[in-house]
Amino acid sequence: MRVVERIVDLREALRGSARTSFVPTMGNLHEGHLSLVRIAKAHGQPVVASIFVNRLQFGPNEDFGRYPRTFERDCDELRAAGCDLVFAPDETELYPVPQTFRVATPAGLGDILEGEFRPGFFEGVATVVLKLFGCVQPAVAVFGRKDYQQLLVVRKMVEQFALPIRILPGETSRETDGLAMSSRNGYLDAAQRAQAPALHRALLALVDRTRELARSRPSQPLDDEAVRRALQALEREAIDALRARGWAPDYLSVRRRDDLAAPGSADLAQRESLVALGAARIGSTRLIDNIEF
Ligand code: PAF
Repeated sequence: MRVVERIVDLREALRGSARTSFVPTMGNLHEGHLSLVRIAKAHGQPVVASIFVNRLQFGPNEDFGRYPRTFERDCDELRAAGCDLVFAPDETELYPVPQTFRVATPAGLGDILEGEFRPGFFEGVATVVLKLFGCVQPAVAVFGRKDYQQLLVVRKMVEQFALPIRILPGETSRETDGLAMSSRNGYLDAAQRAQAPALHRALLALVDRTRELARSRPSQPLDDEAVRRALQALEREAIDALRARGWAPDYLSVRRRDDLAAPGSADLAQRESLVALGAARIGSTRLIDNIEF
């Protein structure tokens, strides 16, 4: 496995490769990332992973400074997973001048849920992903479903810019107690770690309650507005339950999978069309998770 830091060296190494398969990361890799590398390996060659902690997607009070940087260990794990090339630029390589050209994400997608609570996050993600795509020029790129909204933003960006890149999703990897794997799990102390699966359980309960609502046969069929009100009540219940356990939830919400809009009655009736998403802070650590159903 080769490690390159400069864009010219990356281009040279990939010259003539028409089937490059790409996994962008910010490092501090865990099984979730490695499973994306395995998907990449099954769909193209060579497999390139990038390691770059992207300042543009962190808010001023977020954890850019303390985001774990574990480069040597990451490289060992990528090598063992069958990665062919690691692209690890530093900031002066990827952003040699201030990155004033940015990808503006659409209202109603980039400014809701994660985008509401982390303003500028998706602009930062879309900008670096577009730039990394320009550097690597992959045929295939793999993104985890754990960052569901990010996957959707990238998919829609690729569609709208007609980029010749196939975006593949990777399933969320979970610990045995249900906690979604995340680099930020490493911030949790023992007591917080024991509490952490509660976010996943709260989403499972929200999914169950939504399914019950879909199955219920009220005397008056629910119109779109009534469905929205009923879902908002379930979401409030889920948020309150998590808050009662000492969490500070940002949102727990049921949305349409395709565009993250609030579901109406037709969506509720359709199987496999929804996703329950949540973000909540335990101590100073913010975790996210989602369940498609
Ligand atoms: O999911 C991540 O790790 C990051 O958001 C990504 C896609 C590597 C962009 O910095």
